[in-house]
Amino acid sequence: MENFTFHNPTRLHFGRGQIAALDRELPADARCLLLAGGGSIRANGVHDQARRALGQRVVVEHWGVEANPDFDTLMKAVEIVRREKLEWILPVGGGSVLDGAKFVAAAVPYSGDPWEILTTFGAHVKSALPIGAVLTLPATGSEANAAAVISRRGLREKLAFIHPTVFPRFSILDPETTFSLPARQVANGIGDAFCHVMEQYMTYPVGAAVQDRFAEAILRILIEEGPRTLTQPKDYDSRANLVWAATWALNGAIGAGVPQDWATHMIGHELTALHDIDHARTLAIVLPSLLTVERDAKRGKLLQYAARVWDLHGGSEDARIEGAIARTRAFYESLGIRTRLSDYGVSVETAAEVARRLKARGMVQLGERGAITPAKVEEILRLAA
Ligand code: NZQ
Ligand code: ZN
Repeated sequence: MENFTFHNPTRLHFGRGQIAALDRELPADARCLLLAGGGSIRANGVHDQARRALGQRVVVEHWGVEANPDFDTLMKAVEIVRREKLEWILPVGGGSVLDGAKFVAAAVPYSGDPWEILTTFGAHVKSALPIGAVLTLPATGSEANAAAVISRRGLREKLAFIHPTVFPRFSILDPETTFSLPARQVANGIGDAFCHVMEQYMTYPVGAAVQDRFAEAILRILIEEGPRTLTQPKDYDSRANLVWAATWALNGAIGAGVPQDWATHMIGHELTALHDIDHARTLAIVLPSLLTVERDAKRGKLLQYAARVWDLHGGSEDARIEGAIARTRAFYESLGIRTRLSDYGVSVETAAEVARRLKARGMVQLGERGAITPAKVEEILRLAA
């Protein structure tokens, strides 16, 4: 295991009625931007709860943050924060609203062109306004990490940045706020969290027993609770387990000191930018093919995954590996998430285009060993046709 420093500064308030914690967390005279999406929080009463908790504080609202939050929409929020001298950014919604808040928080004090924050992966960020989040969709882990992914439709781009100043100061996770989610978004959340674990686990063994066992536990919980919370969407405990699992899938704990892959995400982001496919669905297209193409490099971990996550013990090693990859694909399909490009009306020609785009970004050595070249990306996507 590599040396590491693990520091996650986000305070989490979990459970029913926890939106009231906004009042305890924020200074009485805090001037706030409430950032929201397209209206789900109005329909499910979460907006009312948040406004009640915020009481008499100055709150300016900015609505309309898209799924895959758009740079132009967020820049309008940046102008409002600067003009109104707001001090706190309060996203209330899914991962897109949270990611959007991180961008706004970093862009407000940024001296250059804020688009640079994305093109340089956050390299020149020095500070950010404090963020306090109310999460309504378990999926991204954005509530307890320092990453954000922002789209710019005008340029057909989707880029990420990471910076420790955008860790939320606190996040509120009330599983009941997720009861209003359509099945498609619940499935997306399960599929996204599953892939987050895989990106940090499915590499090569480094003897990190805690991280490995913890990753395997999260995967097994997603496999067990995922279908249950889809069919029984109002079962509190089942949904609470999904919410907590999604947070731990990407809050840094299982990734500390271990090699990480993230090629599935990088390829997936291009598919969203080009074809507007939901984030989790792009991962379902890429992951099984990537595991197949990389099965020799990932052999040790694939065998461990087969045994500990899918209980595959008999037969040849190759058969167990194939079985584990097949079960991974079947798991996504069982959630109602299709796993082929053709399922989304996308032709195989996109393989070369995605490879070309990653090359243009200098992303020519993806994966835990830098072995996923543009040629390999093309091979992976051809296999996913
Ligand atoms: O816009 P509203 O009306 O709020 O509706 C949203 C949106 O249409 C709706 N929704 C959210 N909570 C709801 C609800 N509908 C009913 N009831 C609720 N309680 O769900 C739709 C999708 O929301 P979105 O926030 O886009 O989904 P998600 O949380 O999956 O976020 C996806 C974004 O996160 C990025 C993705 O790339 C994508 O842009 N990611 C961020 C990461 C991070 N920050 O660490 C990591 C991930 O890998 C991912 O890349
Ligand atoms: Zn993801």
